[in-house]
Amino acid sequence: MRIEIVVNGDRYVKEVMADLSLLDFLREVLGLTGTKWGCLTGDCGACTVLVDGEPVVSCLQLLRQVEGRDVTTIEGVEHSGELDEVQAAFVANGGAQCGFCTPGMIMSTEALLRANRSPSESQIREALSGNLCRCTGYSKIIDAVLQAAAERA
Ligand code: FES
Ligand code: FES
Repeated sequence: MRIEIVVNGDRYVKEVMADLSLLDFLREVLGLTGTKWGCLTGDCGACTVLVDGEPVVSCLQLLRQVEGRDVTTIEGVEHSGELDEVQAAFVANGGAQCGFCTPGMIMSTEALLRANRSPSESQIREALSGNLCRCTGYSKIIDAVLQAAAERA
């Protein structure tokens, strides 16, 4: 089938299999490998991207369901080669160790901060509850989100 979609501000028109997932499209067709291939069951959040600004686990999303919509991946977060506030705060606070969960964490954080410029710790934990991390114990991630929110406020 023919699909038209906008990813990180670029419009693509592609012929794809009807059952292709958004995750496989991003990684295998567009080569945007920042979005991670984790559980593939919707449980880990490593594949989180934004669709029209809302966080979505791309492993469970069929590409055809996001036809014509606006997708943002971790590659679309930076500003002209510079880390954005959320990315920089993760680095500064040790919020990334192995880094496997980090793109999904950052995308969920970006969605949170668009909706709530000054989230409480409990609101941050709720917003990131679908993103699993095996490394950091979460407290450094929470610190990173609080710092990013303060810098954007
Ligand atoms: S890979 Fe999609 S939620 Fe785990
Ligand atoms: S930094 Fe390793 S899984 Fe989160």
